[in-house]
Amino acid sequence: MADVTMIVNGETRTASVPPETTLLKLLRDNFNLTGAKLGCDVGDCGACTVIVDGKPVNACLMLAGQADGGAVLTIEGLATIDRLHPLQKAFEDHASLQCGFCGPGIILSAKALLDENPDPTIPEIRDALSGNLCRCTGYTKIIAAVQDAARALRGEIADKAA
Ligand code: FES
Ligand code: FES
Repeated sequence: MADVTMIVNGETRTASVPPETTLLKLLRDNFNLTGAKLGCDVGDCGACTVIVDGKPVNACLMLAGQADGGAVLTIEGLATIDRLHPLQKAFEDHASLQCGFCGPGIILSAKALLDENPDPTIPEIRDALSGNLCRCTGYTKIIAAVQDAARALRGEIADKAA
């Protein structure tokens, strides 16, 4: 067993897990954070995307030990108790998701993009989300929601989540 300690959604979390445990398994099974989804388990679908030290990662490909000492953000850490993140509000307003399975990963990939690039072009949004597959939507409303959230975060339109 290996001990791992990391900041998850602002809280220090510790677990003792077999060394082959992935970050995704740690989050879901040990920390009961089931927002990150197990889709393909081989790095193709992006359903497991979380943010580690500011970068989006496929949690199915990262060992828990590789995140030891790091800061992890999952979809559960994005909203506060009474306020959605502007990305979540924009996805809701645009009805950007259908089954929702891809949603946590897509929203976190979009957050990582907007943290680095507050005013992305559509090609830049498409590129940032290229590792996140959606079987339902066709992406148009997803792109529109990311653009809207970017405008809200830049203060150009009202933050409807406020
Ligand atoms: Fe990790 Fe598909 S479950 S990329
Ligand atoms: Fe179903 Fe994206 S909304 S996979």
